[in-house]
Amino acid sequence: MPERRPSWLREAKQSLRWMARWRHELHRHPELSNDEHETQKTIVRALESIGVRTIRYPGFTGVLGVIGEDRAGLGPCVALRADMDGLPVTEETGLAFRSEVPGRMHACGHDVHMASLLGAAAILERQRNRLPGPVKLIFQPAEEEGERGGALPFLERGCLEDPHVDYVFGQHVEPSLPLGSVGYRSGALMAAADAFFVRVRGTAGHAAYPHRGPDAVLSAAEIVCGLQPIVSRLRDPVDPVVVSVGSIHGGTRHNVLPGEVRLEGTVRTFKPATRTLVERALRSRLRHLARAAGTRVTIDYRPGYPALWTDPAATDAVASALARLLGRDRAIALAEPFMGAEDFSRYLEQRPGTFVFLGVGGPTRTASLHSGTFAPPDEALVYGAATLLAGAEGLQRLAR
Ligand code: NI
Repeated sequence: MPERRPSWLREAKQSLRWMARWRHELHRHPELSNDEHETQKTIVRALESIGVRTIRYPGFTGVLGVIGEDRAGLGPCVALRADMDGLPVTEETGLAFRSEVPGRMHACGHDVHMASLLGAAAILERQRNRLPGPVKLIFQPAEEEGERGGALPFLERGCLEDPHVDYVFGQHVEPSLPLGSVGYRSGALMAAADAFFVRVRGTAGHAAYPHRGPDAVLSAAEIVCGLQPIVSRLRDPVDPVVVSVGSIHGGTRHNVLPGEVRLEGTVRTFKPATRTLVERALRSRLRHLARAAGTRVTIDYRPGYPALWTDPAATDAVASALARLLGRDRAIALAEPFMGAEDFSRYLEQRPGTFVFLGVGGPTRTASLHSGTFAPPDEALVYGAATLLAGAEGLQRLAR
């Protein structure tokens, strides 16, 4: 069914200046999760300038765009997603288009995701009469938020209906892969990320008389060490799990025992059964370790994003399209999944589809995501837009 396509890379290159203008505007004005009001206006303005119909929901900063609605029923409808939020990071790139908001930065490349999707939209809109089916654009807020995120409220508002979406596709910039390459993986790609918040309560008092009551500091230290056997002994070693305590706070000076110590940590898993097992084991160990020390614990366990599992058939289709686009050596099958999390997993719980990593690394060491020096080049927009176009084409070739 798909007619002859011009080279997506060539088309994307012709749109580079247009995409870069939008990227720079978005990059100058980063907004935090669920506060993407200006970003929303910018996206709507960009989509309207190329004639794409937009949909918004009251009290929600996401934007939907629909291309080729009259192509519904001809072939599958594919949704392409970009996330919109920046981070509470101070920019240190020295770029001409650096953040104008102190302490806020697009340090995770979501400006690149948005501008790439705009570029893909402009190219698809010009060819809407030749599309094998409709394409939906999902500009999603609050990917960085970590608990409810932005995908879930978008799904609750029906972003995959009207027109009904058959396949979903998304991407994230990745500095460990070279510019011009894209990484994909069938099956487990990114971990489920849950958070836990623990209060350990003992008896406050003089540090010279530790026998007068349970010591919250010692108990907290035992808990930090005592959680690790969950990782090393409770589950199959080839099924990856991380339990990390990232924050520990208690006390004010060297000779005073505090009455309370607070711990915060993260749990990363892939399989739903493992996720349940680790949560149960963590709660049980926390209670037992505290009981042995004579302290009391309260546990606030907050489930975050589920693990991201890509659909094998959809991933195969996109991988073939990427190999045609970039060459076999630059469409990279990733051997291992990532322990990071991404709420694109919520769409993949509802529809088949896949997610890929867009290489933005340079010849020398490239700054990592979430750092103040992360500065992917504008050229990444060419590959970003072309990857979305090739991915949509690959998925639209699949039967519904
Ligand atoms: Ni990100």
